[in-house]
Amino acid sequence: MTAQNLDSDLAPVAAVIVLAAGGGSRMKSSKSKLLHEISGKTLLHYAVSAGAALDPSHLVVVVGKYREQVVEELGQLSASVTTALQEEQLGTGHAVMCGLEELGHLTGEVVVTYGDVPMLTGDMLRQLVAIHRAHVNGVTVLTAHVDEPTGYGRILRDGDRVVGIVEHRDASEEQRKITEINSGIYVFNAETLRDGLAQLGTDNAQGEHHLTDVLTFAHGRGDRVGAVITEDIWQTEGVNDRVQLARINAEMNRRILDAHMLAGVTIVDPQSTFIDVDVDLARDVVLMPGTILQGATTIGEGAIIGPNTSLMDVEVGAGAEVVRTHGSFAIIGEGAQVGPFSYLRPGTQLGRDGKIGAFVETKNAVIGTGSKVPHLAYCGDAILDDGVNIGAGTIFANYDGVNKSPTHVGKDAFVGSNSVLVAPVDIAPGAFVAAGSAITEDVPAGGLAIARGRQHTAEGWVSKRRPESKAAKAAAEHDGSIHPAIEESRSQQKG
Ligand code: UD1
Ligand code: CA
Repeated sequence: MTAQNLDSDLAPVAAVIVLAAGGGSRMKSSKSKLLHEISGKTLLHYAVSAGAALDPSHLVVVVGKYREQVVEELGQLSASVTTALQEEQLGTGHAVMCGLEELGHLTGEVVVTYGDVPMLTGDMLRQLVAIHRAHVNGVTVLTAHVDEPTGYGRILRDGDRVVGIVEHRDASEEQRKITEINSGIYVFNAETLRDGLAQLGTDNAQGEHHLTDVLTFAHGRGDRVGAVITEDIWQTEGVNDRVQLARINAEMNRRILDAHMLAGVTIVDPQSTFIDVDVDLARDVVLMPGTILQGATTIGEGAIIGPNTSLMDVEVGAGAEVVRTHGSFAIIGEGAQVGPFSYLRPGTQLGRDGKIGAFVETKNAVIGTGSKVPHLAYCGDAILDDGVNIGAGTIFANYDGVNKSPTHVGKDAFVGSNSVLVAPVDIAPGAFVAAGSAITEDVPAGGLAIARGRQHTAEGWVSKRRPESKAAKAAAEHDGSIHPAIEESRSQQKG
């Protein structure tokens, strides 16, 4: 079956039933296994999106343990998913019965998947359905050949046909040598499934209702049971503990990185780079080692990110550079410079060609085109128009212990180093604030505000109070001149 057969007009299936009632006790977690994440999305998210790709009339998740958590997460994921309750986990067959009960009389196909198999894709399910239809099967199961089949159900075959599935615990020595395993993902004709479930017993090592017995039943009554063997074993792997969670996360990340690299992104060190599924990267983006891009982060063409940078829900414009930075819910404009060692908190919006430099923290700060906050500053609840320069060590004092208030710095205004701007305060366009000022009153357009003590110099203080000291000796040896670098700078500024 080739890709052409799998085009988007595959007719929808009647239902997808996602089995998710099990507890996941091996996760040793106080939250449901299905709420643990791979590349920024929950296991449940992957299960629901793969199922939704079949455009089913019904998408049902069978819930049991931790059902409140699972139902709440489903509410966030999709409005069209329903749930069925399996009060007690009496086996996979029983779980499917619980799912079907919610749906009334179905005709067409029912697809069964698991909630904890995150790499399974919608494309794989579509392929399974297409082959099921092409071969006019009653049941089609997704299988794989694995090196270590212990624990899995084994596929029993008669040539092309599947004659049944035997669980590891019920299998003979001979059967345990079979390396073709049951993934637990199936397409059933609704009628075959209904009839098969109706006669399920619990005559097995676990004393449960095994969905796998429906295949033996179907074959026995002459329905065709087929298998699709996938080469991509990852798509059949479930998460049972945190070791598997990490392994699958690493593989998912590897695939995400490969796709970005093939689409024109340079990733200098894939081993230390992590990118969530929904991240969007343009061509010629360069990711330096230690870059973590999370949530709905987007990076524009030619931008350079890292090293050692983590961005969550950040939009970075084309050509920007972001070095050794942590940012969340922020926007960085085209050609802007950020870092090293910058902390961009929610609501930061840096304009085109702007700069947020070393040891600067910003929060809810809208910074205009070409405006710069280059060194050692806190800039919170701030509106900076275009062309503003904020001196080193400036603090936007936005919090008085009770209320947060804003500060506005107008176009082309200049704030001298080590100033405190006590909000709410308005510094109008073209205004200047002298270094070391504590600004508590508005500064008018084009005005200069100086708010600090005047310098007082006591001549000869050292020779009087610190005679014999190294300083006194150095002072005595000095000819009274100003350092030439300072002289030069002054004469240039006068000229
Ligand atoms: C099942 C299959 C086995 C297959 C393996 C693949 C059966 C009898 N066996 O075995 O052939 O190789 O999956 O991983 O089907 N669940 C419920 N309710 C229940 C029992 C299970 O919702 O009463 C859900 C679990 O949450 C899980 C999935 O079904 O997501 C599979 O259950 P699990 O107990 O892991 O099945 P296995 O014994 O691994
Ligand atoms: Ca399992």
